Amino acid sequence: MNINFLLNGTLKVVNICPGEMLLDTLRKLDILSVRRGCDTTSCGVCTVLLDNKPIPSCSFLSVRADGHAVTTVEGIPEEAEKLAKCFGEEGADQCGFCNPAFSLTAYAMKQEKIVFDEQTIKDYLVGNLCRCTGYLSQEKALRKYLGVDQ
Ligand code: FES
Ligand code: FES
Repeated sequence: MNINFLLNGTLKVVNICPGEMLLDTLRKLDILSVRRGCDTTSCGVCTVLLDNKPIPSCSFLSVRADGHAVTTVEGIPEEAEKLAKCFGEEGADQCGFCNPAFSLTAYAMKQEKIVFDEQTIKDYLVGNLCRCTGYLSQEKALRKYLGVDQ
């Protein structure tokens, strides 16, 4: 069957199999930034945005994306660069496997246009499991990116 969705602002029509997951559909469309980790909705490295909300693409049926907007890190180069700068300044850089999903979650937070306090930031990050560079440095970098400390 065919589905249509906006991928990083461009309309895509793609043929999918029943039961196909969005991560696999994105790979068919040459999107390589979306990683496969646990494949069971636990680690968050497969995160993409569906209508600006983070979802685990490893466990999200592609058919459910029909008619929606999907964003990957390829679609937010300027925001990803801003976030990378904040992460670098706070010593919170993650590896290339984890960075894309984390960047998308941070970008989704920014779209919420609410005031994030410490607990709200923690709650929002619950779907991104890896904290190799430490919880505090990541939260500090995020506060900087979100403008909370300014
Ligand atoms: S690959 Fe781990 S949540 Fe999708
Ligand atoms: S495994 Fe990538 S930063 Fe933790």
